[in-house]
Amino acid sequence: MFKQFLWILGILSCFIFGWWLYVIIPARVLDMPPTADESPPADFGLIKTGQRVYGANGCAGCHTQVVRPANMGSDIARGWGNRRTLPLDYYHEPNPFLGIVRMGSDLSNIGTRRKDPHWFYLLLYDPAKVFPGTIMPPYRYLFRKVRAEGKRNPIALPQELTRGVPPDIQILPSPEAMALVAYLISLDRSYPVETQPKKP
Ligand code: HEC
Repeated sequence: MFKQFLWILGILSCFIFGWWLYVIIPARVLDMPPTADESPPADFGLIKTGQRVYGANGCAGCHTQVVRPANMGSDIARGWGNRRTLPLDYYHEPNPFLGIVRMGSDLSNIGTRRKDPHWFYLLLYDPAKVFPGTIMPPYRYLFRKVRAEGKRNPIALPQELTRGVPPDIQILPSPEAMALVAYLISLDRSYPVETQPKKP
């Protein structure tokens, strides 16, 4: 009888130990709220809309948003970030786009590398103009053709870069494209964070 009891106790403690190791500890480490001095900036308004456009257009199919630590690849050496990304970096994101495949570069910190919205608009309209021979597809449906009535809109794509478009037509980014670009420029996870969880 005592032997049976020991068996059951042994099996039970194996389950409890596994549960504690793989459920309780990770939940405590991953769900720690950020402290004021290490909080990722909250995403709001246009940026949130832009994140949805990013998801809807499958950008995460080719781009990751995870910078690996220096001893696990060349992400930091390539300039994709100044540190590895941590769970805290996605604290305000309901659907973080970590991505799986890296056909293009990691975009965790694209906002630190590129800040000019016009550069992003051209990339989305005609990626081959920015990166000749690239496999990144154009996203022309995120742009509108509008008749230029006398004056050109300053956010229209430069005429010399949109060959085949009549001179009285200007190519303007749609609200979705503007939100997407606001989101991309907001991607900056270079603020300092603690890599070790705080002792309670
Ligand atoms: C089929 C794969 C693919 C998809 C889908 C894709 N991209 Fe790309 N993207 C690339 C590649 C590859 C590059 C790098 C350019 C090169 O060298 O060819 C790139 C480059 C970029 C860059 C410049 C990165 C840098 O470090 O300068 C940005 C920004 C970007 N893509 C944003 C997007 C966004 C936003 C979307 C979705 C609307 C998207 N990409 C969809 C493949 C893709």
